[in-house]
Amino acid sequence: MRRTPIIISLLIGLLVLAGLGWGSAAWSRAHERRWSGRLDLELVSCNHCHLKIENLPWAQPSRRHSAPAGLAVSPDNRKVYIALDERNEVVEADGVTLAITRRLEVRGGPFGLAIDAKGERLYATCRDGDRVVAIDLATFREVESLAIGAGPVAATYCDTQEGGRLVIANSVSDNISVVSLSPFKELARPQAGREPYAVAAAPDGSIAFVANRLAVPENYYSMASSELTLVDPSKGKLLLRSPFESAHLAEGIAVAPGRGWALTPLIKVRNLVPITQVANGWVMSSGLAIADAKGSIIQMPLDEAHDYFADPSGIAVDAAGKRAFIVSGGSDTVTVVDLELLARWLAGASDQAKREAIDDLSLSAEYVVARIPTGRNPRHATLSPDGKRLYVSERLEDAVLAVDTAALKPIGRIRLGDGGQTDPIRRGERVFTQAAHTFQRQFSCRSCHPDGHVDGLSYDFDGDGIGDNLLDNRSLQGVAGTSPLKWNGKNPSLQVQCGVRFARVLMRTDPIPGAELDDLAAYLNSLPPPRWARRHRQVLTPAQERGRRIFFATLTPAGEPIPRERQCHVCHRPPLYSNRLMSSVGTRGSLDPSDLFDTPHLLGVAYTAPYLHDGRAKTLEELWTTYQTNDLHGVSSYMNKHQLNDLVEFLKTL
Ligand code: HEC
Ligand code: HEC
Ligand code: HEC
Repeated sequence: MRRTPIIISLLIGLLVLAGLGWGSAAWSRAHERRWSGRLDLELVSCNHCHLKIENLPWAQPSRRHSAPAGLAVSPDNRKVYIALDERNEVVEADGVTLAITRRLEVRGGPFGLAIDAKGERLYATCRDGDRVVAIDLATFREVESLAIGAGPVAATYCDTQEGGRLVIANSVSDNISVVSLSPFKELARPQAGREPYAVAAAPDGSIAFVANRLAVPENYYSMASSELTLVDPSKGKLLLRSPFESAHLAEGIAVAPGRGWALTPLIKVRNLVPITQVANGWVMSSGLAIADAKGSIIQMPLDEAHDYFADPSGIAVDAAGKRAFIVSGGSDTVTVVDLELLARWLAGASDQAKREAIDDLSLSAEYVVARIPTGRNPRHATLSPDGKRLYVSERLEDAVLAVDTAALKPIGRIRLGDGGQTDPIRRGERVFTQAAHTFQRQFSCRSCHPDGHVDGLSYDFDGDGIGDNLLDNRSLQGVAGTSPLKWNGKNPSLQVQCGVRFARVLMRTDPIPGAELDDLAAYLNSLPPPRWARRHRQVLTPAQERGRRIFFATLTPAGEPIPRERQCHVCHRPPLYSNRLMSSVGTRGSLDPSDLFDTPHLLGVAYTAPYLHDGRAKTLEELWTTYQTNDLHGVSSYMNKHQLNDLVEFLKTL
């Protein structure tokens, strides 16, 4: 008897819940359609539009490790100096006991080091602080500081007839700072290629050689080349720019005294070859570029036919010009090259043989005399001036390896930290940088995403023909919270993107195991957008402010309403500047299967050229001057040159 009311109230309850559910779904759908201006939109998560930067993983504090970057050894061979950018420190260690003797706090992420000829001053370039610091080595104190270009990562000292100089690679402003030492002052800032990353000077101080890390393709479908830039250190004049053909990630450079060579390890990259050719070894290999003072360059292979030494980075050459030591961050190896044997091969080779050398991996046996295993991710290398010790920064081991160059055997380590194995982000960075997961260890994630960023190239991930369906590389700095991933928006999560897909398309081996994938995702999620700390509190200039108003405009200057689905800020909605939806903006190419593309987030967009899914736009301006169709990608037809400039100026602040 008493059951009926219970059943009735249950039924009523269910109906109310269903009604509420239906009502809220209807509300949500109407709300989302209203604010996106898209009547086709089905239910998506509220997070697509309502999300807080403060909650993203990269905005949380993370552990700072004692990861060694640049190295320098005192002229008397006794002291080793090590830059610890993550910890804002420069440390001194004893070359014999390998114990740390002094520490100094240096703000702004000290990364590159150089020491003067007398061993009185050490110079540290601060990558995040955009300055170079002079450290007095008697007192181990910072004595002078000078503002230079943006993102300085490497410096070399040279004696010129007009006094001591520093030549500094500014990786973000793409130029070179030439600094006189007394007075401590910037003399000139010549232009370089994209991401100047390493510097070396001829022993007589007449030329400085700068290796640029990223390649700049002429067009998105043409071969990409990075650059060797030559400057005169006395006055800071640009002497010459010469391409490293079909190469990128040139991160080290050293001069071979007596031979007139500047040697640069680099990755030979064939990005227009379908990635399905990985199994044939046609996508990436390691090379050593030999340049002379006239800028002519020969590239020689460092790999072996069935074993690759991925991500060559730093290089050191002894004072006699006999041997070069090249560290490979992706395969934890030092490759020792006998320069006498190399010179002999070059002397006997025809011009054609020299041009084709880089593709003949059997050649390395002619001059590679040893491979020395190291700890995780060796990146910088330097020799003591007497040539007896080689020091190698094992970046993800928090250590510097000391190698006896006579025996070619490690003799110990300068321990800087614990290696960070309890930190998932650190473990993930190890997975990201190692080539162990690819076929014959040909490359790592870092080979295309240096420091989690872009390499500026577009790749052919399909097997349907050379140069078809190119996909512009995407930065992983600031990727947290931006899923779905890929230009076609097909991947829901970092785990899927980096696991199965990566194994199938790129690695040609087994997928990365689950636990390592979680670590990898933790690492990627920890990467803030480029130079975020510097940018997010900036005050807008008048031009940037005008550009901001254009970005958020709902009316044209003539008072015409801009339809909601064509307003920049609706698709590129703050704080990520993406609504994380697929949309069509008239950019479909003849080979694209669809006209819908993932709406990219715009955090750090100034640093990720080229643009659009296939990388066809070299600059931000080109998006609206060359690649706009019928106002489909935001309404821009009303804009004059100045208004477009203002808009671009604003985009560069994001
Ligand atoms: C397509 C983007 C989008 C999605 C998805 C979205 N919103 Fe909104 N929402 C907006 C915009 C735009 C506003 C206007 C105010 C603003 O800019 O924050 C807004 C405002 C609101 C407001 C303030 C009241 C109002 O209507 O102006 C509430 C509450 C809200 N959203 C809740 C939600 C909830 C709950 C969901 C998930 C069901 C959701 N939103 C999904 C874009 C979206
Ligand atoms: C051969 C060069 C190359 C290598 C190696 C490479 N990537 Fe990528 N990556 C790309 C390109 C090109 C894209 C854009 C592809 C697309 O959108 O379809 C991309 C896209 C991504 C994305 C999606 C980003 C977004 O915003 O949608 C993630 C995540 C990613 N890569 C992570 C990795 C990881 C992790 C590894 C190593 C396991 C790796 N990549 C190795 C070239 C590479
Ligand atoms: C309908 C949604 C939509 C609107 C409106 C829109 N965009 Fe986009 N935007 C996209 C999509 C989708 C892409 C990627 C297209 C492609 O790759 O082919 C994109 C690409 C971009 C890129 C290149 C990003 C990169 O990494 O390559 C920039 C910059 C950009 N938009 C800025 C703007 C500005 C500024 C406006 C207003 C003038 C605007 N967008 C209006 C959806 C939109």
